[in-house]
Amino acid sequence: MNIRFTVNGNQIELATSPKKRLLDILRDDLDLIGTKEGCGKGECGACTVLINGSAVNSCLVPALQLANSHIVTIEGLRHWSSFASLERAYVEHGAVQCGFCTTGFVMSTAALLATAAPPLSIDQVKWQLAGNICRCTGYAKIVEAVMDLTQQPELVNQVKLDWQTAFGGK
Ligand code: FES
Ligand code: FES
Repeated sequence: MNIRFTVNGNQIELATSPKKRLLDILRDDLDLIGTKEGCGKGECGACTVLINGSAVNSCLVPALQLANSHIVTIEGLRHWSSFASLERAYVEHGAVQCGFCTTGFVMSTAALLATAAPPLSIDQVKWQLAGNICRCTGYAKIVEAVMDLTQQPELVNQVKLDWQTAFGGK
């Protein structure tokens, strides 16, 4: 089948199997290897991307569901005005060790900040990140980093603006 969709603002037209996973399309066909494969079963969140304004496990999305969708990967998120603050928080709080899970966590963090109404409790942040698994950090540092971000109103507003630019009306 031929499908058309947008990735990081670029129009893509691809001839592919309807069953091919978005994760494989991103990594193998589009060379966007920032999105990682962990479990391949929708359980670890390493493959999280944003589709039409939702954080989604790309290992569970077949090509046939992609027509006319708008996708943002970590490579696209890097160009958001808010990205440097997200990156800084993860680094300053020591929330990255091997880094394998980090892409997924950062994508989920962007979704959390774009859709949540701070102040958030630690339990609310943990709940929002519950779909992402980290084998290294023990989670405390990641939760600290995200809590720090939720307590920066200007940054939260910037994420919401970036989100609106990426997905508004789509
Ligand atoms: S690789 Fe997709 S959820 Fe684990
Ligand atoms: S930093 Fe290694 S899996 Fe999370």
